[in-house]
Amino acid sequence: MESLKELLSEELKDLYSAEKQLLKALPKMAKNANSGELRSALEEHLEVTRGQVDRLEQVFESLGKPAKAKTCKAMQGLIEEANEIMEEDAEGALADAGIIAAAQKVEHYEMASYGTVRTWARICGENEAAELLQETLDEEGEADKKLTELAESIVNPQAESQSDGQESGSRGSKKSTKSGSKSSSKKSSRR
Ligand SMILES: [Fe+2]
Repeated sequence: MESLKELLSEELKDLYSAEKQLLKALPKMAKNANSGELRSALEEHLEVTRGQVDRLEQVFESLGKPAKAKTCKAMQGLIEEANEIMEEDAEGALADAGIIAAAQKVEHYEMASYGTVRTWARICGENEAAELLQETLDEEGEADKKLTELAESIVNPQAESQSDGQESGSRGSKKSTKSGSKSSSKKSSRR
């Protein structure tokens, strides 16, 4: 490794592998999603990811390098964890909250990598590559934001109320005061 440009193309090989691995993993994640919104967000990101693979090929081309993948071990691990969380015995929104967690870890990993290669490309004067990489970075950011919105507006509140109904520990006792006593009217009037 003797130059930043070499380091750049090594990192691009890692990303090329990462995106290709994700292409295979996303359909399973979408299939496991219970919320229709989450499912379509993941399906949409699958389409976006196809475009990102093509875009990486354009980046290699603009650098005059062959498009090659070098197994991204980090993505392997992230996908393994996604599979683990999907094998958990969780239902409905609770399962979805786990899928979102796994998907956001993937997005953040990709954002870190694309941010780095975009900057290196700029420094090396590879402006076309830098612009292409910025486009993908923006898309990853949008996907991440969408997942946060889904989690906050739909999935987390549902997962929480699902837990309310099922746990018999401290949550259960909180619930019984809510349904049974005067203190509950005080509480609800504060909302
Ligand atoms: Fe991606």
